[in-house]
Amino acid sequence: MGRILIAIDGPAGAGKSTAARLLAERLGYTYIDTGAMYRALTLLVIRNNIHWENEKKIIPLFEKQKITQKGEKTFIDDENVSTEIRTNRVSRAVSIVCRHPEVRKRMVELQRELAQSAGIVMDGRDIGTVVLRNAELKLFLTASEEARAKRRMKDLEALGKPLPLAEVQQNIRNRDRLDSTRKIAPLKQADDAIVVDNTDLPIDEEIEMLVRMAKDKEIEHNGNR
Ligand code: DC
Repeated sequence: MGRILIAIDGPAGAGKSTAARLLAERLGYTYIDTGAMYRALTLLVIRNNIHWENEKKIIPLFEKQKITQKGEKTFIDDENVSTEIRTNRVSRAVSIVCRHPEVRKRMVELQRELAQSAGIVMDGRDIGTVVLRNAELKLFLTASEEARAKRRMKDLEALGKPLPLAEVQQNIRNRDRLDSTRKIAPLKQADDAIVVDNTDLPIDEEIEMLVRMAKDKEIEHNGNR
């Protein structure tokens, strides 16, 4: 069967990571979480006491330390930072750090290197529009703002760092605004993306639907080769 590239984009809390991970598992593909890569860089910015707006001081971090993904884990050099990158401290800063043009250029290069062979599910904000413009299947996942805030609140509870719903919703709203209005690679649906609104869609039904779409595309891709 011809393996394909799958791009998943959408706003904060739309369930992209969960869907991407489960879809990759079902297809035997590799999952790449690009948001985690921007979060790891943001963690480095915070740890080094660099101002979020100071792109000149942020860029050398790419040379100093290595951000990688192995399975679902995110590493800075050999340190597993998968939990720490989910804290609110990082969530508040990441949308500023990821706006810088050179930061995005470097990240896109890293992400394309990771996706050199097919059989990839990659999620983020600009995957279908920039990083993997050639992806055979592009999905844009979304849900109501309230549903998205409730999901993020549960994630934070599971991390042992609970926050009130209103605060989580405010963070999501701010990030969506910053992510959608930035000049470079804003959050936006690709013209050829399929929109999936999962506000009232149970996760198992959503995954079945995505697996069917992916398998159809695999067959189509096989025929085109
Ligand atoms: O998916 P997430 O919430 O972990 O992403 C964290 C932030 O990173 C998000 O606010 C926007 C940014 N991001 C981006 O600009 N481009 C991507 N491809 C992925 C994430």
